[in-house]
Amino acid sequence: MSHHDRWALILGASSGFGAACSRALADAGYNIFGVHFDLKTTLPRAKQVKEDIEAKGRKAVFFNKNVADDRNRAEIILKMHEQLKSRGSLDGVLHSVAFGNLKPFIASNPEDAVDRKAMEMTIDVMANSLVYWTQDLVRAGLLVRGSKVFSMTSSGSHRVIVGYGAVSAAKSALESHTRQLALELAPKGISVNCFQAGVTDTPAFRMIPNHEKIKEHILQLHPDGRMTQPEDVARTLVALMDSRVDWMTGTVIRVDGGEDNI
Ligand SMILES: NC(=O)c1ccc[n+]([C@@H]2O[C@H](COP(=O)([O-])OP(=O)(O)OC[C@H]3O[C@@H](n4cnc5c(N)ncnc54)[C@H](O)[C@@H]3O)[C@@H](O)[C@H]2O)c1
Repeated sequence: MSHHDRWALILGASSGFGAACSRALADAGYNIFGVHFDLKTTLPRAKQVKEDIEAKGRKAVFFNKNVADDRNRAEIILKMHEQLKSRGSLDGVLHSVAFGNLKPFIASNPEDAVDRKAMEMTIDVMANSLVYWTQDLVRAGLLVRGSKVFSMTSSGSHRVIVGYGAVSAAKSALESHTRQLALELAPKGISVNCFQAGVTDTPAFRMIPNHEKIKEHILQLHPDGRMTQPEDVARTLVALMDSRVDWMTGTVIRVDGGEDNI
Protein backbone atom coordinates (compact mmCIF):
# COMPACT_ATOMS: atom_id res chain seq x y z
CA MET A 1 0.00 0.00 0.00
CA SER A 2 1.40 3.43 -0.84
CA HIS A 3 1.87 6.01 1.89
CA HIS A 4 -0.61 8.24 0.10
CA ASP A 5 -3.38 5.86 1.06
CA ARG A 6 -2.88 6.27 4.80
CA TRP A 7 -5.30 8.44 6.73
CA ALA A 8 -5.50 9.72 10.30
CA LEU A 9 -8.33 11.59 12.01
CA ILE A 10 -7.30 14.35 14.42
CA LEU A 11 -9.97 15.73 16.74
CA GLY A 12 -8.63 19.13 17.80
CA ALA A 13 -6.38 19.61 14.75
CA SER A 14 -5.98 23.38 14.69
CA SER A 15 -3.75 23.98 17.72
CA GLY A 16 -1.36 22.52 20.29
CA PHE A 17 -0.86 18.75 20.20
CA GLY A 18 -3.45 18.17 17.48
CA ALA A 19 -1.74 20.63 15.12
CA ALA A 20 1.76 19.24 15.80
CA CYS A 21 0.54 15.65 15.36
CA SER A 22 -1.24 16.56 12.10
CA ARG A 23 1.98 18.05 10.71
CA ALA A 24 4.17 15.17 11.92
CA LEU A 25 1.81 12.54 10.54
CA ALA A 26 1.72 14.37 7.21
CA ASP A 27 5.54 14.29 7.22
CA ALA A 28 5.32 10.56 7.80
CA GLY A 29 3.01 10.10 4.81
CA TYR A 30 -0.48 10.29 6.28
CA ASN A 31 -3.39 12.28 4.89
CA ILE A 32 -5.34 14.07 7.58
CA PHE A 33 -8.98 14.51 8.47
CA GLY A 34 -9.03 17.34 11.00
CA VAL A 35 -11.85 18.49 13.25
CA HIS A 36 -11.51 21.74 15.19
CA PHE A 37 -13.77 24.39 16.69
CA ASP A 38 -12.56 27.89 15.88
CA LEU A 39 -14.15 31.30 15.68
CA LYS A 40 -13.00 34.05 13.33
CA THR A 41 -10.00 35.08 15.46
CA THR A 42 -8.45 31.59 15.72
CA LEU A 43 -9.57 30.24 12.33
CA PRO A 44 -6.24 31.22 10.65
CA ARG A 45 -4.51 28.60 12.83
CA ALA A 46 -6.62 25.85 11.25
CA LYS A 47 -5.98 27.24 7.77
CA GLN A 48 -2.24 27.23 8.45
CA VAL A 49 -2.21 23.59 9.61
CA LYS A 50 -4.21 22.57 6.53
CA GLU A 51 -1.82 24.46 4.23
CA ASP A 52 1.22 22.91 5.94
CA ILE A 53 -0.17 19.40 5.39
CA GLU A 54 -0.90 20.16 1.74
CA ALA A 55 2.58 21.64 1.28
CA LYS A 56 3.94 18.22 2.32
CA GLY A 57 1.99 16.68 -0.57
CA ARG A 58 -0.73 15.13 1.60
CA LYS A 59 -4.47 15.60 1.60
CA ALA A 60 -6.11 17.63 4.38
CA VAL A 61 -9.88 17.57 4.87
CA PHE A 62 -10.86 19.85 7.73
CA PHE A 63 -14.18 20.43 9.50
CA ASN A 64 -14.81 23.43 11.77
CA LYS A 65 -17.39 21.74 14.01
CA ASN A 66 -18.06 20.93 17.65
CA VAL A 67 -16.91 17.31 18.22
CA ALA A 68 -19.46 16.86 21.00
CA ASP A 69 -22.47 17.31 18.70
CA ASP A 70 -24.03 14.00 17.56
CA ARG A 71 -25.22 15.37 14.22
CA ASN A 72 -21.80 16.83 13.43
CA ARG A 73 -20.19 13.49 14.18
CA ALA A 74 -22.59 11.64 11.88
CA GLU A 75 -22.08 14.18 9.10
CA ILE A 76 -18.27 14.10 9.36
CA ILE A 77 -18.17 10.29 9.42
CA LEU A 78 -20.32 10.20 6.27
CA LYS A 79 -17.99 12.65 4.53
CA MET A 80 -14.93 10.63 5.58
CA HIS A 81 -16.59 7.50 4.18
CA GLU A 82 -17.11 9.21 0.83
CA GLN A 83 -13.49 10.42 0.75
CA LEU A 84 -12.06 7.02 1.73
CA LYS A 85 -13.93 4.99 -0.88
CA SER A 86 -10.85 3.20 -2.22
CA ARG A 87 -8.97 2.81 1.10
CA GLY A 88 -11.90 2.20 3.40
CA SER A 89 -10.50 2.87 6.87
CA LEU A 90 -8.44 5.04 9.21
CA ASP A 91 -4.98 4.05 10.39
CA GLY A 92 -5.15 6.28 13.44
CA VAL A 93 -7.30 8.63 15.48
CA LEU A 94 -6.09 11.24 17.96
CA HIS A 95 -8.56 12.81 20.39
CA SER A 96 -6.91 16.09 21.46
CA VAL A 97 -9.78 18.35 22.42
CA ALA A 98 -9.41 21.10 25.02
CA PHE A 99 -12.75 22.67 25.98
CA GLY A 100 -13.09 22.62 29.75
CA ASN A 101 -14.53 24.79 32.47
CA LEU A 102 -11.79 26.13 34.75
CA LYS A 103 -13.82 27.55 37.64
CA PRO A 104 -13.36 26.29 41.22
CA PHE A 105 -15.90 23.97 42.86
CA ILE A 106 -16.18 26.28 45.88
CA ALA A 107 -16.79 30.05 45.56
CA SER A 108 -18.80 32.48 47.68
CA ASN A 109 -20.79 33.53 44.61
CA PRO A 110 -22.34 30.42 42.98
CA GLU A 111 -21.87 32.01 39.56
CA ASP A 112 -18.12 31.84 40.09
CA ALA A 113 -18.18 28.08 40.72
CA VAL A 114 -18.54 25.05 38.45
CA ASP A 115 -22.24 24.20 38.07
CA ARG A 116 -23.95 21.08 36.73
CA LYS A 117 -24.00 22.33 33.14
CA ALA A 118 -20.29 23.24 33.17
CA MET A 119 -19.29 19.96 34.82
CA GLU A 120 -21.30 17.87 32.38
CA MET A 121 -20.12 19.81 29.34
CA THR A 122 -16.47 19.45 30.34
CA ILE A 123 -16.71 15.70 30.87
CA ASP A 124 -18.83 15.27 27.74
CA VAL A 125 -16.45 17.15 25.41
CA MET A 126 -13.11 16.14 26.93
CA ALA A 127 -13.85 12.52 27.82
CA ASN A 128 -17.16 11.00 26.71
CA SER A 129 -16.83 12.22 23.12
CA LEU A 130 -13.90 9.75 22.76
CA VAL A 131 -16.36 6.89 23.35
CA TYR A 132 -19.04 8.20 20.97
CA TRP A 133 -16.54 8.83 18.15
CA THR A 134 -14.91 5.43 18.63
CA GLN A 135 -18.28 3.64 18.69
CA ASP A 136 -19.43 5.29 15.47
CA LEU A 137 -16.10 4.88 13.68
CA VAL A 138 -16.14 1.15 14.48
CA ARG A 139 -19.80 0.86 13.36
CA ALA A 140 -18.98 2.67 10.12
CA GLY A 141 -16.10 0.28 9.43
CA LEU A 142 -13.59 3.12 9.58
CA LEU A 143 -11.62 1.51 12.42
CA VAL A 144 -10.41 -1.98 11.55
CA ARG A 145 -7.75 -4.48 12.66
CA GLY A 146 -4.51 -2.53 13.09
CA SER A 147 -6.19 0.88 13.56
CA LYS A 148 -4.91 2.84 16.57
CA VAL A 149 -6.83 5.28 18.77
CA PHE A 150 -5.01 7.76 21.02
CA SER A 151 -6.21 10.44 23.42
CA MET A 152 -4.59 13.09 25.59
CA THR A 153 -4.56 13.02 29.37
CA SER A 154 -2.50 15.01 31.88
CA SER A 155 -1.07 14.59 35.38
CA GLY A 156 -4.27 16.41 36.44
CA SER A 157 -6.01 13.01 36.31
CA HIS A 158 -4.31 12.15 39.61
CA ARG A 159 -3.12 15.51 41.00
CA VAL A 160 -4.93 18.58 42.25
CA ILE A 161 -4.46 21.89 40.42
CA VAL A 162 -6.31 25.12 41.27
CA GLY A 163 -9.31 25.58 38.94
CA TYR A 164 -8.77 22.19 37.28
CA GLY A 165 -11.49 20.22 39.12
CA ALA A 166 -13.83 19.60 36.19
CA VAL A 167 -10.99 18.93 33.74
CA SER A 168 -9.33 16.66 36.28
CA ALA A 169 -12.54 14.61 36.50
CA ALA A 170 -12.67 14.52 32.68
CA LYS A 171 -9.10 13.22 32.54
CA SER A 172 -9.86 10.44 35.05
CA ALA A 173 -12.90 9.50 32.96
CA LEU A 174 -10.86 9.63 29.75
CA GLU A 175 -8.30 7.19 31.18
CA SER A 176 -11.10 4.89 32.31
CA HIS A 177 -12.75 5.10 28.84
CA THR A 178 -9.37 4.23 27.29
CA ARG A 179 -9.09 1.03 29.36
CA GLN A 180 -12.68 0.03 28.65
CA LEU A 181 -12.48 0.70 24.90
CA ALA A 182 -9.17 -1.20 24.77
CA LEU A 183 -10.80 -4.19 26.46
CA GLU A 184 -13.80 -4.22 24.16
CA LEU A 185 -11.84 -3.53 20.96
CA ALA A 186 -9.01 -6.01 21.60
CA PRO A 187 -10.86 -8.85 19.79
CA LYS A 188 -11.13 -6.57 16.75
CA GLY A 189 -7.39 -5.78 16.82
CA ILE A 190 -7.94 -2.05 17.43
CA SER A 191 -5.70 -0.50 20.09
CA VAL A 192 -6.67 2.39 22.37
CA ASN A 193 -4.05 4.29 24.37
CA CYS A 194 -3.75 7.62 26.09
CA PHE A 195 -0.76 10.01 26.08
CA GLN A 196 -0.04 11.77 29.34
CA ALA A 197 1.78 14.87 28.10
CA GLY A 198 3.82 17.06 30.38
CA VAL A 199 2.84 20.68 30.96
CA THR A 200 2.92 22.38 27.55
CA ASP A 201 2.54 26.04 26.67
CA THR A 202 -0.52 25.99 24.40
CA PRO A 203 -3.60 28.24 24.23
CA ALA A 204 -5.47 25.75 26.47
CA PHE A 205 -2.70 25.86 29.08
CA ARG A 206 -2.82 29.66 29.14
CA MET A 207 -6.48 29.47 30.18
CA ILE A 208 -5.58 27.71 33.47
CA PRO A 209 -5.61 30.07 36.47
CA ASN A 210 -2.03 30.43 37.82
CA HIS A 211 -0.55 29.05 34.60
CA GLU A 212 2.42 31.43 34.91
CA LYS A 213 3.18 29.98 38.36
CA ILE A 214 2.83 26.43 37.06
CA LYS A 215 5.22 27.24 34.20
CA GLU A 216 7.76 28.70 36.63
CA HIS A 217 7.50 25.63 38.86
CA ILE A 218 8.02 23.24 35.94
CA LEU A 219 10.98 25.20 34.57
CA GLN A 220 12.63 25.09 38.00
CA LEU A 221 12.02 21.42 38.76
CA HIS A 222 11.74 19.57 35.45
CA PRO A 223 14.51 16.95 35.12
CA ASP A 224 15.38 18.37 31.70
CA GLY A 225 14.82 22.03 32.60
CA ARG A 226 12.20 22.68 29.95
CA MET A 227 8.48 22.29 29.36
CA THR A 228 7.05 19.63 27.05
CA GLN A 229 6.45 20.78 23.49
CA PRO A 230 3.63 19.55 21.22
CA GLU A 231 6.29 18.12 18.89
CA ASP A 232 7.51 15.78 21.69
CA VAL A 233 4.14 14.06 21.61
CA ALA A 234 3.92 14.24 17.81
CA ARG A 235 7.21 12.32 17.38
CA THR A 236 6.04 9.69 19.87
CA LEU A 237 2.71 9.30 18.08
CA VAL A 238 4.40 8.80 14.71
CA ALA A 239 6.73 6.18 16.23
CA LEU A 240 3.82 4.29 17.83
CA MET A 241 1.82 4.32 14.59
CA ASP A 242 4.36 1.77 13.30
CA SER A 243 2.48 -1.47 12.56
CA ARG A 244 5.15 -3.41 14.52
CA VAL A 245 3.79 -1.77 17.70
CA ASP A 246 0.86 -4.16 17.95
CA TRP A 247 0.71 -5.41 21.55
CA MET A 248 0.17 -2.18 23.44
CA THR A 249 -3.35 -1.18 24.40
CA GLY A 250 -5.30 0.24 27.34
CA THR A 251 -2.28 2.13 28.65
CA VAL A 252 -1.42 5.65 29.72
CA ILE A 253 1.88 6.54 28.02
CA ARG A 254 3.78 9.34 29.70
CA VAL A 255 5.45 11.78 27.30
CA ASP A 256 6.72 14.33 29.79
CA GLY A 257 10.52 13.95 30.03
CA GLY A 258 10.09 12.52 33.54
CA GLU A 259 8.07 15.47 34.87
CA ASP A 260 5.43 13.47 36.74
CA ASN A 261 8.08 11.91 39.00
CA ILE A 262 9.00 15.25 40.57
N1 LIG B 1 -1.30 21.95 27.28
C1 LIG B 1 -1.02 21.09 28.26
O1 LIG B 1 -0.23 21.38 29.20
C2 LIG B 1 -1.62 19.71 28.24
C3 LIG B 1 -0.98 18.68 28.97
C4 LIG B 1 -1.53 17.40 28.95
C5 LIG B 1 -2.68 17.15 28.20
N2 LIG B 1 -3.27 18.15 27.49
C6 LIG B 1 -4.47 17.81 26.73
O2 LIG B 1 -4.18 17.84 25.34
C7 LIG B 1 -5.40 18.10 24.62
C8 LIG B 1 -5.18 19.26 23.65
O3 LIG B 1 -4.81 20.40 24.38
P1 LIG B 1 -3.89 21.56 23.80
O4 LIG B 1 -3.08 22.03 24.94
O5 LIG B 1 -3.22 21.08 22.56
O6 LIG B 1 -5.01 22.65 23.50
P2 LIG B 1 -5.17 23.75 22.35
O7 LIG B 1 -6.04 24.80 22.91
O8 LIG B 1 -3.83 24.14 21.79
O9 LIG B 1 -5.96 22.95 21.19
C9 LIG B 1 -7.26 22.49 21.41
C10 LIG B 1 -7.87 22.01 20.11
O10 LIG B 1 -9.17 21.51 20.42
C11 LIG B 1 -10.12 22.07 19.50
N3 LIG B 1 -11.42 22.08 20.16
C12 LIG B 1 -11.75 22.62 21.35
N4 LIG B 1 -13.05 22.37 21.62
C13 LIG B 1 -13.54 21.68 20.57
C14 LIG B 1 -14.81 21.15 20.25
N5 LIG B 1 -15.84 21.27 21.10
N6 LIG B 1 -14.96 20.53 19.06
C15 LIG B 1 -13.92 20.41 18.20
N7 LIG B 1 -12.69 20.86 18.46
C16 LIG B 1 -12.50 21.49 19.63
C17 LIG B 1 -9.57 23.45 19.20
O11 LIG B 1 -10.16 23.98 18.02
C18 LIG B 1 -8.08 23.12 19.07
O12 LIG B 1 -7.84 22.60 17.79
C19 LIG B 1 -6.47 18.39 25.68
O13 LIG B 1 -7.17 17.20 25.94
C20 LIG B 1 -5.63 18.78 26.89
O14 LIG B 1 -6.30 18.59 28.10
C21 LIG B 1 -2.77 19.42 27.49
